[in-house]
Amino acid sequence: MNPQRSLLVFPIDLPQSQAFVRTARQLGFRVVAASSEPLDPAQFPDCATAYLPYVTDAAFDVALADLLARQRIDAVFASHPAIWWHLRALAERGDFPHAFRLCNESPYEMDWQPYGEAYRWAEACHAAEPLAPGEAAPALPVSNYAGLYRSYNLIPGQSDNTKLLALAQIARQLARGDVVEIGALYGKSAFALAWLARFHRVGSVLCVDPWEIASIRNQGESARLINRAVGNRDWQQAFLGFCASLAGFDNVNYLRAPSDHAVGLYREAAAAGGVSSKEFGRTTVDGRIALLHIDGNHRYEAVKRDLETWLPLVGEGGWVLLDDYVWAFGDGPRRAGDELLASRAVSAAFVAADTLFVRLEET
Ligand SMILES: C[S@@+](CC[C@H](N)C(=O)[O-])C[C@H]1O[C@@H](n2cnc3c(N)ncnc32)[C@H](O)[C@@H]1O
Repeated sequence: MNPQRSLLVFPIDLPQSQAFVRTARQLGFRVVAASSEPLDPAQFPDCATAYLPYVTDAAFDVALADLLARQRIDAVFASHPAIWWHLRALAERGDFPHAFRLCNESPYEMDWQPYGEAYRWAEACHAAEPLAPGEAAPALPVSNYAGLYRSYNLIPGQSDNTKLLALAQIARQLARGDVVEIGALYGKSAFALAWLARFHRVGSVLCVDPWEIASIRNQGESARLINRAVGNRDWQQAFLGFCASLAGFDNVNYLRAPSDHAVGLYREAAAAGGVSSKEFGRTTVDGRIALLHIDGNHRYEAVKRDLETWLPLVGEGGWVLLDDYVWAFGDGPRRAGDELLASRAVSAAFVAADTLFVRLEET
């Protein structure tokens, strides 16, 4: 049997170190968490803890070599730049008493990595052509799209970056009106919609979701693996996550109800001119939907019902998006989407990622 490998994480006090420890422990490594500050071992129940002098202390190198040898450590994670560069010099020194390697790239590269990825996506987004015929607002600055990508990818959810690209393109062609999302979960796609609606001055974003198990536990026989998984989610956590994901937007609110009930609440809110919640305050409601994103229960009867109840509220030239039109767990969105395409005149229809994007024709 392989002996358990040991890693040193120093200094443990930085957030990147603690994220690394979680992954290392999940992979079965033994972790020694070290700091030059007093440590409370109770805060690191899964690790051994150790003290090292400050890296500027003349005793540091000897203390490090001693710790590595005593604890049989051959790899070190260091997310503090000054410490990382010092450790790299030691690791490359032929006469350091205990050989070790650094297991992370330079902290400056770690800092830039997610931004580099965001900027590569943002360049492509900025250069992309509009997806439907007709006029389009100019693309936003590349740095704005990079910010959108960074924040969107911090939110749990399965909405991917291809879908984000398509959302960013159609946002340039949206008429004024409300953006309604059925099925928000932690608010990943809602975040993208709110961000784009704000930059392109589209209007308010209303998220419809009951955040409770009853509405989602049956998505059809072929979705039985999903039906089983969703029973294990804490739905109140998802709601709290949604509120945190969308905090800071003044154009967002929610209707916490299943979509067939929420449609009445939406009509009432439109008649009253707005809707209020404790978390988001008051948000204006236009009553005419510029974009409807259907991503709730994916059973055929549920998607069909979402279309029947909400489609009459979508304005001319408005967009209807059916998530999971391409879906490994059932054909509800595909059947309902194909029926929509067969029954309505549309000026654009395409699939991006797994989502069907449809623009209704203006008469
Ligand atoms: C696939 S998740 C949505 C993912 C989300 N759009 C994202 O970007 O991460 C489906 C969501 O639909 C919600 N839902 C299920 N049935 C619903 C219904 N009848 N009306 C509104 N929302 C519903 C669930 O509570 C769940 O949060």
